[in-house]
Amino acid sequence: MSGIAEALKRPLTNSPVVAAYREKTPTSERLAAEAHTLFPSGLTHDSRRLAPYGIYVEKAEGSRKWDVDGNDYVDYFGGHGALILGHGHAEIRAAVHAALDGGTHFGSSHEMEIRWARLIARLVPSAEKVRFTASGTEATHMAVRIARAFTGRPRILRFLGHFHGWHDHMASGVHGHFDGSPTPGVLDEVAGAVVLCPPGDIDAVENAFQMHGDIAAVILEPIGSQTGQVPHLPGFLSGLRKVTRARGTLLIFDEVVTGFCVSRGGAQAHYGVMPDLTTLAKVVSGGVPGGAIAGRADLLELLDFEAAARHGRAKIGHQGTYNANPVTAAAGVAALTVIAETDACERASRSAESLRNALNTVIEDANVQWAAYGEFSVFHIFTNPRGRVIRAGEFDPLDYDFEELALKPKETIDKLRLALLVNGVDVTGWPGGTVSIAHGEADISRTAEAFSRALHMLRQDGEI
Ligand SMILES: Cc1ncc(COP(=O)(O)O)c(C=O)c1O
Repeated sequence: MSGIAEALKRPLTNSPVVAAYREKTPTSERLAAEAHTLFPSGLTHDSRRLAPYGIYVEKAEGSRKWDVDGNDYVDYFGGHGALILGHGHAEIRAAVHAALDGGTHFGSSHEMEIRWARLIARLVPSAEKVRFTASGTEATHMAVRIARAFTGRPRILRFLGHFHGWHDHMASGVHGHFDGSPTPGVLDEVAGAVVLCPPGDIDAVENAFQMHGDIAAVILEPIGSQTGQVPHLPGFLSGLRKVTRARGTLLIFDEVVTGFCVSRGGAQAHYGVMPDLTTLAKVVSGGVPGGAIAGRADLLELLDFEAAARHGRAKIGHQGTYNANPVTAAAGVAALTVIAETDACERASRSAESLRNALNTVIEDANVQWAAYGEFSVFHIFTNPRGRVIRAGEFDPLDYDFEELALKPKETIDKLRLALLVNGVDVTGWPGGTVSIAHGEADISRTAEAFSRALHMLRQDGEI
């Protein structure tokens, strides 16, 4: 056995939770050991980290997924927020199969990309023009470039904890480097061109504008960082709109998650606040890789050959082998058609509300000082790092600051996730997750029972 495999075998603690998890998932443990020989930390995405190792999944359908040991789980990862319609939605599956049969890449334009963009323009109120990308990270990268090219200004204002992908301008201030210092491999100049403000604080934004007259754009997750883990008052969005308009600064809504999960038209339609640019991914491409930037025609025109020639200026270059590839476009059209023509958003939100209520009942019954909260199709679990006395059903995240909501006792959360996995539920490391239209009453009661048993296990383990 390799040194890493041995390290994985060693219990992190003498925890019965970890022991129960190991007993249930021996094939995942073996695969995790092999993965460590190939991938940094054995992983292909930082958010999939779980100590001592995560499950290896071989199949997913509806609200469930199955691991390599044959265990099934109610899934709340939801493809990192991409699957509001659940795993393997029949219409998306049929559309992808048909597209695969027709060819995965034409190296040419095709009608499906027009249908896809037309759906985005129909649903997203501020989308006058669209350009497809291959991911959300690419979309926010392009948004920054357009903002700089349009305004001729260098700086981008972001909010602590808000996640916009992993490119250089978005690296500091999300999980660390809250002072704005560059994360490894990022140039000082790039990190220095980002102004970080406390989330939801319009006075801090005003002050930043007083200090810096050269802010090209403000970008944010419109329901608050980490999909509403640190929410802000709705008035914050209209406040930002006012300030940015007055300063000639662009407002970018990063709707990579909120697009089509908050409402058919995203957070902008729900709150009635129009950004200049919108970044999209996840739901927009139906659970296969894709993304888009949409917004004002005069901004997207910076990518336009003819407009550049007309104005005697250089255009912003934009390539991307997989932009609007036929398979992604077909999945996107199928997903957005369901979103547009059914009450999918409302249904997922209603199920999430039932789940949050059920979890809070379990938390109160167990007399644990935690709370489940969130809005729309999302739930978060507040693990109360400062040990306050709270009542789950009355918890209001707006009474807490960024640090307290985002501060996470990692070992407790890992154990909670392991205990939930032992009882057949997979949640994210927020901790929390997203609920889809495939989640029904049976999933919610199974989750509540699993949560109750998990809390019991954590208590026996001395964790809570
Ligand atoms: C709000 C937000 N923006 C951007 C991204 C990056 O998208 P992608 O993972 O497709 O690059 C994510 C991904 O989780 C996200 O949640």
